[in-house]
Amino acid sequence: MTEKIVLTGIKPTGDLHIGNYVGAIRPAISLIQEPGILPRYFIADYHALTSMQNREELHDRIYQIAAAWLAFGLDPEKVLFYRQSDVPEIFELSWILSCLTSKGLLNRAHAYKAKVDDNLANDRDPDNGVNMGLYNYPVLMAADILMFNTHLVPVGKDQIQHVEIARDIAEHFNKTYGDTFTLPEALVEETTAVIPGLDGRKMSKSYGNVIPLFTDEKKLRKAIFRIKTDSKTPEEPKDPKDSTLFDIYRAFATEAEIADLAKRYEEGIGYGEIKQILFDQVNEKLKEPRKIYTELINDKAQLDTLLKKGGEQAREYAHRFMLEIRNKIGRY
Ligand code: ADP
Ligand code: TRP
Repeated sequence: MTEKIVLTGIKPTGDLHIGNYVGAIRPAISLIQEPGILPRYFIADYHALTSMQNREELHDRIYQIAAAWLAFGLDPEKVLFYRQSDVPEIFELSWILSCLTSKGLLNRAHAYKAKVDDNLANDRDPDNGVNMGLYNYPVLMAADILMFNTHLVPVGKDQIQHVEIARDIAEHFNKTYGDTFTLPEALVEETTAVIPGLDGRKMSKSYGNVIPLFTDEKKLRKAIFRIKTDSKTPEEPKDPKDSTLFDIYRAFATEAEIADLAKRYEEGIGYGEIKQILFDQVNEKLKEPRKIYTELINDKAQLDTLLKKGGEQAREYAHRFMLEIRNKIGRY
């Protein structure tokens, strides 16, 4: 069986929330168990610089993401696990790729475009608040992906466009210099739930409506009890299909537990009781990872050792491939 290289990265910005876990970390961890998969998971620390330029914050958040992956069971023996900035060849490749990328392609990239549209709608200069890192973001992401000859990129829907850009750039390079890069494909789990936040909209750090992933029990309970509900009385029957509490519960519980709670909704159950059931369920699932996370975050030396080892392995691969790429472009 030919093995498939699967690569994904998480940016160390903002506190991780349960949406990140259900939508990104959990599916990536379960993918590792599948046969024929060669996983490469990394911390996209230099991507974070486009929106966050605070020394202490970047430093702390890199450790937080590393500890989170490990707390949920990433086995560094099975996964090439590294920090993007430990592989400087990625940035060299990024420059080369940027010279093969038309500006028009990046003008259409959604993060940049959204910012320009927002500026125009508010009578500001179109490039107000746009740094070149944000503009070049998709090229650096293409370098992340192409450097490791990636077949599949597990991402949320919002990142599909970036993977398509990486593919376009790879095709352009291959046409210009001969077959070099594998053409990547986005792997989007249609079944992965979009977790709603406290206000019912998609849980997102940009909306400030999150349930944090690694908080203590008390704060977790408090967050869950803040989830917005309607004013139905406890006895009134309720529709589980129209309930933020139920949507979150569904992402954590077993089929039998889900069916059981749905029945209780229809019979009439108070929101306070549902919140308690939801808290017990989520807390149970997060208890052990929280313990491991806390241990790791207090043992930075262990995290350093792991990241260093992964970084060296990733760099070895990138270095070898970079020699080939340099040769292809005429720099030998
Ligand atoms: P945020 O929206 O909080 O800024 P990111 O855009 O940094 O989160 O997302 C990181 C990863 O977590 C992505 O793979 C994304 O698809 C996933 N993710 C984020 N929010 C949710 C959510 N509410 N439900 C499911 N997955 C999510
Ligand atoms: N852009 C991704 C995000 O915001 C993070 C990322 C950077 C990434 N490089 C990547 C994801 C390469 C997959 C592959 O979520």
